[in-house]
Amino acid sequence: MEAGKHNANQLVTEEEERAIAEKLPAIFREFSQERTNLLPILQRIQETFKFLSPGAMRAVANYIGISTSEVYGVATFYNQFRFHPPGRHEIKVCMGTACHVKGGDIILENFERKLGIKEGETTPDREYSIERVACVGCCALAPVAVVDDKVIGYMQPSKVEGLFLQFEIQRKIREGQIKAEAS
Ligand code: FES
Repeated sequence: MEAGKHNANQLVTEEEERAIAEKLPAIFREFSQERTNLLPILQRIQETFKFLSPGAMRAVANYIGISTSEVYGVATFYNQFRFHPPGRHEIKVCMGTACHVKGGDIILENFERKLGIKEGETTPDREYSIERVACVGCCALAPVAVVDDKVIGYMQPSKVEGLFLQFEIQRKIREGQIKAEAS
């Protein structure tokens, strides 16, 4: 996988943007067009689609009557927003104090290096996404990662390798099944 930043525009297909656009009016109906509703609208969109697509942010700007760059400015100010669709496997690395002290940043770096993406991003094949999260409440197991909603404690680089080995096996089985079904 190629290292570096990936543009959400390259990851979100036109079809997906269309599907999101179809659902936005129902969300907008819940809020008046006041500027003070910008944050709640963005939160609602993220809650629904798990990320803010470029098209959704343009639509919000239109709805409220402000510039798209202003919407981006507000959204990027808060850590809670994602700008990339989640991957099939969602990797969350805890950066709470206990995990940080026990080397959480090294674990994050391991994931980033392995996948060639930075936290907050998704691999181009949409298989994996990485994000940093605040304390997940299992400090005794620090450093902790949450992978597909499963808490993995005492993380270390060898565990990162082991995880990807498992994922690759699962992927091969899945692809084998798809081929078998197609033939
Ligand atoms: S700081 Fe990571 S689980 Fe609490």
